[in-house]
Amino acid sequence: MKKWYAVIGDPIKQSMSPGMHEAWFDEESIDACYIPIHVTADRLREAVEGLKNLGCSGWNVTVPHKSAIIPFLNQLDASARQMNAVNTVHVLGDGTLVGSNTDGKGFVRSLEEAYGEKCKDKKVLVIGAGGAARGISFALQSAGYGPIFFTNRTLEKAIQLADDLSNSAVLSVSDAELSLSEFGLIVQTTSVGMNFSQLGMPLNPGNVSEGTVVADIIYNPLETEFLSESRKRGAHTLNGVGMFVHQGALAFETWTEVRPETGFMIDKITTTLGG
Ligand code: ATR
Repeated sequence: MKKWYAVIGDPIKQSMSPGMHEAWFDEESIDACYIPIHVTADRLREAVEGLKNLGCSGWNVTVPHKSAIIPFLNQLDASARQMNAVNTVHVLGDGTLVGSNTDGKGFVRSLEEAYGEKCKDKKVLVIGAGGAARGISFALQSAGYGPIFFTNRTLEKAIQLADDLSNSAVLSVSDAELSLSEFGLIVQTTSVGMNFSQLGMPLNPGNVSEGTVVADIIYNPLETEFLSESRKRGAHTLNGVGMFVHQGALAFETWTEVRPETGFMIDKITTTLGG
């Protein structure tokens, strides 16, 4: 029987995941399809039961269900437990629903695809202390990066995150701005700079030094103001397209045990977004 996969979220219309996974199924000659499903928060439990009962083999989870879905799953892997959030569900042969989170590892793969291990043994600054910051910092640390410093508009949240992650510390936004030149890798994980949301920058990149890698997880726009200002100061930059593609590739691997080609997908999405 043809297998099928899905992504659930609210809103869901804008998701680029269906196009990406369907292209990979084609490319890998796998007889499967992937559909977007609009699920509101009040219907999440029924949606999970429905997906399972209708034979869905796995699905992605996006805003606002990444944490709310946890009580409806049977197992979580270490990544989902660390992040307290799930972006991938795999339905095992006996119907067990296993949640995982590929966002953090997707970021690390994207970083290493672009810059190899250039940022290893350098100090890392993570801007933001939400779900994305948590996933990325745990994945960076388990891949051997660090020490990791956090800065965030709401400092208490950064302190909480640093409490959960060994070999990490917190800086106020103004102290982070003053010490930017000390970092070999700066990762912007907030929503500041996103199109249709809140343009602007989470902090002033005036002190970024030449050769520093500055990554932003936003991919729309392809180059946030934070990235373009950092690039003008000689930084090497990385936008969020690679992380998006790699988190999808890791989900695809979980479901199919096939590692899809990511390079052409990054080019394709970059072109779609106007690059
Ligand atoms: P995600 O799962 O995408 O990380 P989140 O958990 O809601 O989303 O976290 C959003 C992050 O963006 C937080 O670090 C948030 O800062 P606060 O903890 O102070 O709320 C940050 N953020 C959102 N809007 C911001 C703004 N206008 N200025 C600075 N930081 C902002």
